[in-house]
Amino acid sequence: MNPKMDVAAIWKQKCPGLMVSTEAPILESHGQDWTRFTTPAPAAVVFPDSSEQVCALVQVAAGAGLALVPSGGRTGLSGGAVAAHGETVVSFDRMRKVLDFNSIDRSVTVEAGVVTATVQALARQNGLYYPVSFASEGSSQIGGNIATNAGGIRVLKYGLTRDRVAGLKVVTGRGELLDLNRGLVKNASGYDLRHLFIASEGTLGLIVEATLNLASPPLPSKVLLLGLESMDSLMKVFDSLRASLELSAFEFFTDRALHHVCRANALPAPFDTTCPLYVITEFDCPDEQAEETVMERFEYCSEQGWLLDGVISQNERQIRELWRYREGISESISHFPPYKNDLSVRVSAVPEFLQRLDGLMQKICPDFEVVWYGHIGDGNLHMNILKPVDLSLDDFESRSHEISERTYALTEQIGGSISAEHGIGMLKQPWLGRTRSGAEIKFMQQIKAVFDPAGIFNPGKLLP
Ligand code: MLT
Ligand code: ZN
Repeated sequence: MNPKMDVAAIWKQKCPGLMVSTEAPILESHGQDWTRFTTPAPAAVVFPDSSEQVCALVQVAAGAGLALVPSGGRTGLSGGAVAAHGETVVSFDRMRKVLDFNSIDRSVTVEAGVVTATVQALARQNGLYYPVSFASEGSSQIGGNIATNAGGIRVLKYGLTRDRVAGLKVVTGRGELLDLNRGLVKNASGYDLRHLFIASEGTLGLIVEATLNLASPPLPSKVLLLGLESMDSLMKVFDSLRASLELSAFEFFTDRALHHVCRANALPAPFDTTCPLYVITEFDCPDEQAEETVMERFEYCSEQGWLLDGVISQNERQIRELWRYREGISESISHFPPYKNDLSVRVSAVPEFLQRLDGLMQKICPDFEVVWYGHIGDGNLHMNILKPVDLSLDDFESRSHEISERTYALTEQIGGSISAEHGIGMLKQPWLGRTRSGAEIKFMQQIKAVFDPAGIFNPGKLLP
């Protein structure tokens, strides 16, 4: 008997009314995220349209021992939403209702499948702001953002997705619905289970609904694009600007990253000068005083020999244009494909980390093109190793694993994390012990067993 038919038959028989698909294109599209190291092979994709349906399907899965892989916008970069072993993918594409907007609470309550950009637009229409922002915000879904504690370019000022979640409804492995924190600002009544589900990568339960805090609308801002002389100057420039400006973003990328983004998008080079390193930073600029401050800071950094060139935005259109140099990088290298590293260290450790990691890469993989960019004001570096055209995907993956061993050992020595914002998923799972102690991992496994006793949620992801 075809096992795929078997699983689909269980769903149809036990969950009448649940939309189920076993069509090949749907299995393929919904069985993978943006990583390209596995072949999607789910048995079925189910599309619940309510929390009640999610509770019912989880009870069936627990009873029949069916593995479930939660699936949002599938823009993940660690294989967290990959279904490669006959699992059932639970798609939230039909749970896209905005349930409530409350101007007094300054919050919005949405179903898990609502797209990030929809929340941003809703906030804007109501004179408020949803600050979590990244390149895939047009397709990523709120449930997935919460499951990975998504970061992006505004963490410096506004924090991570975790900082916006005021309430969460989740379905546990027993099929019960938990209503966590209910949008309260203050709630000193014991363990805050909400935070366990944030960044749990679909291993503890299925997020079905969230109440999100909105922020005040941002002040008028400007963007500076700077060309830097070396990695050494990077955090000096950060320190100097941050001392007198309210920065909402501080990102960097290398000349290799610029090369790819310009080529893919037919963008002109930003300066006549060629620079080894670039910074894009956005800051509040409500008045002339702030404009004078930024010019004064720019001159100071140039006099120190840290800057080679720079440009400041003059209007909203230029802000958008300058951001394209940073936001387009990820997509511009996606076809290689890249082996992605999403590393973080304390901000104060960034200079040492960059210098030692650069030395390591030159020693162990001088034959690979390595593209660096990231949210360096948060201590978060995206190091992308590009697959050479003439190397097979399998060989590239095993070389990348060897590089990861050394990279993560260094990251561990500096007290950093092997995942800042992309999650552990399937790709980083073998190295979880480089960033979490044995005792921590044991507690995590015990916590999983409490919420998911049948072990049906996202097996093979995050935890060994
Ligand atoms: C980014 O910062 O551009 C995203 O995290 C995606 C990526 O790392 O490629
Ligand atoms: Zn990022």
